Amino acid sequence: MKITVTVIKADIGSIGGHICPSRRLLARVAEYVADQSSGLIIDSHVGCTGDDIAILFSHQQGISSEKVHKLAWDAFVAGTETAKEQGLYGAGQDLLKDAFSGNVKGMGPAVAELEFEERPNEPFLLFAADKTDPGAYNLPLYLSFADPMHNSGLILSPSMNRGFTFAIMDVSHTEADRVIELNAPEELYDIAALLRDPERFVVESVRSRNNGEVAASISTTRLHNIAGKYTGKDDPVMLVRVQGAFPATGEVLSPFSIGHYVAGFMRGSHTGPLMPVKKSTPTSFFDGPPIVSCLAFCVHQGKFTEAVDAFDHPYWDHIRDKVSRKATEIRRQGFFGSAMLPYSELEYGGIVEKMKRIEQGFVDRKTTELVEH
Ligand code: 13P
Ligand code: 13P
Ligand code: MG
Ligand code: MG
Repeated sequence: MKITVTVIKADIGSIGGHICPSRRLLARVAEYVADQSSGLIIDSHVGCTGDDIAILFSHQQGISSEKVHKLAWDAFVAGTETAKEQGLYGAGQDLLKDAFSGNVKGMGPAVAELEFEERPNEPFLLFAADKTDPGAYNLPLYLSFADPMHNSGLILSPSMNRGFTFAIMDVSHTEADRVIELNAPEELYDIAALLRDPERFVVESVRSRNNGEVAASISTTRLHNIAGKYTGKDDPVMLVRVQGAFPATGEVLSPFSIGHYVAGFMRGSHTGPLMPVKKSTPTSFFDGPPIVSCLAFCVHQGKFTEAVDAFDHPYWDHIRDKVSRKATEIRRQGFFGSAMLPYSELEYGGIVEKMKRIEQGFVDRKTTELVEH
């Protein structure tokens, strides 16, 4: 059976600043989806990570289905009403357009979709991150699909021996989707050369070279490219199929043990380590640290099993302690150097006016003065 798994996420309001949605808000979104999905959706799941709500759907409408995207958009609009009634902070934050126009891409919400012929057993992972941008997944994807140090199956499993194709998007090119496809392992250094710049180049999808099937899909939305100003961080979602021709679940989780530094801590303007967290974890220290959750599912004839929380295990407590130490350490240098993002990332915020004013105070020293000193 051919099915599509779609995840669409948005921040439509949260308690106490950018911490987490209210229970009533989550319930409203889930209720809207349950009420409106008959005949369109086979199954759905609603959850939250930090202040973002993710709606997962299975259906047979294909990728970029207007009906499915509209259902998610309408659920977020309905939720925004509840957020306003409760006086939640940032009600409707990620709904950047007034009216739905065919596809949530380019309207604020993040979307990732996979369409495939269901295997007899079909395990997959749903990742949702808060206080970061889509390039945060570049390193984990590189390591789990192209590096035998994390994916032992690249050595051990004949079903992955041909490697994977990475589709990488240049998200700074806003006129159209600008994408390149590169093959691992032959083009590993070219892949690395792009993925090292996660604010510009973002993995959009990964495909198996053994069977041609899609393995992973990542949201590529950069909100400031839509709004032209800072409206909140992108907070990306990702779907990854696992086992068989794809990495084992543990091979996909493995790189998250690094707690790598990503963009998005406090006001979307700082660098912080990405902490793997349990589902529904709120944000805290310095509006962060950046967090990522992972729910594991199987899907059969479009029906999801219950979600298993992949980062709810004693192993990850030890990683979370390490990531807390890394977060504290980089915060010790405040705004200085690599602790704050480069100006190219900040230029969508209020610092632009400040820099214009300061610029006027600069004077070009005359050559003669230079000689005298
Ligand atoms: P099981 O024998 O538990 O299915 O595990 C197989 C495997 O390869 C896990 O990485
Ligand atoms: P969100 O994008 O998660 O709303 O965070 C915005 C922010 O600036 C937090 O400091
Ligand atoms: Mg928010
Ligand atoms: Mg958020």
